[in-house]
Amino acid sequence: MIRIIGFLFGIILFINCKNTAPPTATGLVTEKAMVVSARVEASKIGSDIIQKGGNVFDAMVATELALAVAYPYAGNIGGGGFMVYRMANGEIGGLDYREKAPLAAHKDMYLDSLGNVIPDKSTLGATAVGVPGTVAGVMAVHEKFGSLPLKEILAPVIRLAEKGVIVTEKQAKRLDDYRDIFIKVNSDTTFFATVYKQGDSIKYPALAKTLQKISEQGKDGFYKGDVAEKLANFIQAKGGYVTMEDLEKYEAKWRSPISFNYRDLKIISMSPPSSGGFTINQIFKMMEPYDVSSFGHNSVKSIQLFIEAARRAYADRNYFLGDPDYVEIPLNELLSEQYLKERMQNFSFDKATKSSAVSHGAVQIVESDQTTHYSIVDSFGNAIAATTTINGGFGSKLYSDELGFFLNNEMDDFSAKPGVPNMFGLVGAEANSIAAEKRMLSSMTPTIVEKDGKLWMVVGSPGGSTIITAVAQTILNCYEFNMSMQDAVNTPRFHHQWLPDAIIFEPDGFPASLVTDLKNKGYIINEENTPVIGKVDAIKVLPNGKLEGGADKRGDDTAVGF
Ligand code: DON
Repeated sequence: MIRIIGFLFGIILFINCKNTAPPTATGLVTEKAMVVSARVEASKIGSDIIQKGGNVFDAMVATELALAVAYPYAGNIGGGGFMVYRMANGEIGGLDYREKAPLAAHKDMYLDSLGNVIPDKSTLGATAVGVPGTVAGVMAVHEKFGSLPLKEILAPVIRLAEKGVIVTEKQAKRLDDYRDIFIKVNSDTTFFATVYKQGDSIKYPALAKTLQKISEQGKDGFYKGDVAEKLANFIQAKGGYVTMEDLEKYEAKWRSPISFNYRDLKIISMSPPSSGGFTINQIFKMMEPYDVSSFGHNSVKSIQLFIEAARRAYADRNYFLGDPDYVEIPLNELLSEQYLKERMQNFSFDKATKSSAVSHGAVQIVESDQTTHYSIVDSFGNAIAATTTINGGFGSKLYSDELGFFLNNEMDDFSAKPGVPNMFGLVGAEANSIAAEKRMLSSMTPTIVEKDGKLWMVVGSPGGSTIITAVAQTILNCYEFNMSMQDAVNTPRFHHQWLPDAIIFEPDGFPASLVTDLKNKGYIINEENTPVIGKVDAIKVLPNGKLEGGADKRGDDTAVGF
């Protein structure tokens, strides 16, 4: 009898204990510290700073600015971003260095006299530019937490700009794809009108000079004096709105992250004006009552559950969220377990919920990977996740030849007109309407995850509206489906954002039979649009305390550490 009870107990234990054998690491494994970013040059500069005794924040400053040199597609000093940190002692925080609307901005600034959105005005050229936040962001980080002198941190970044960066195959293609539009927005004498081929080295002397000013004068080197004057004059001469006063007034803001529990994980992610933390909080909490791992990775059931949670979460995101300094967001109500349980009450595995039953509209999702995320863990056990962007690929395409960088087109992240989709097909509402000095809503989701109270993962992604999905699926891939960090990044992703009411899949990895099963349940699949969904750069702490990198091979992303 005792034996039988023992046997039954064993079976129950076996069934309940998922993920008992940890997966074999398939990404770079290091002992102490790691930086994963979109370019090897930036990861290396960040890692070297830690090796010299710097902390994760010193490395963040170096990596962020090195990406502005090595990865002008999205790395920037003309844009903005968000950073979430977790200290080795468990203390957490977040930084908002998001762009903001210039003082001259107003609600209808992108509408014509009939009230229609004027094409391109919020996406292309100087009219699309928001007040940049990146330099203020990294300087705020350095001031609060930096341990090495600024000059020492910036020296290798400036050297990189002077020495030059090798053009990769992917970059050569991009520069080629965008050359005509660079010339249209700037002129045929602009820096990037030159044809660069794979293997060429691009030197950035103008950017090196701007970085030198920042190295000497800190935040003021960008937001006041010579650089600020040149920048404001340039943007205005091109028809934009950013003034010297706008630059002088810009401040990065420390904000409390959103944090919530999912089973034995604690997930810490960015709060508004980013929607990332909020939306993954809703998605995870709507999924939590289900035995997700038993459904299997990318199975019909796990895809259904994720999509139904995402559909409902994006609907709330689009309606309620905006800059918290300007709009009241009922965060407690929208994130309460009771509310989220009720939201899922009309979900059934038999049949798709229609987005029209949640709201209305029909728009397109645009392929996008033009932001950039990097994850860092230092040798002291501190971690940061930072996502930074100029919004579109090369931002507004407006390039200051004199100062050496692209300006963002972040103004398009506002809702120019409630109900009209932006370039990511996101349909916004009043909460995200334009106002002077307001920050535009973001989807950026820099995230840190604790397991059993210890640092477990650092993760984030570009991808516009698909960022949230890519981050959530990467965490689930490791946690529910027991993948290594690198495998969790590699595996194909899918996406749904409420509107348009359609699932998109990455090109490979989703069998026709699965698509048919979903269609039979009433899901609409956009089979013409099979874009790359996100480009995740992440780090996982292995059971033995070592670090495993997940560097997304959808790009040139690379993990470096020691
Ligand atoms: O903040 C946001 O949500 C967007 N500006 C992010 C843009 C982005 O990820 C572009 N690339 N995919």
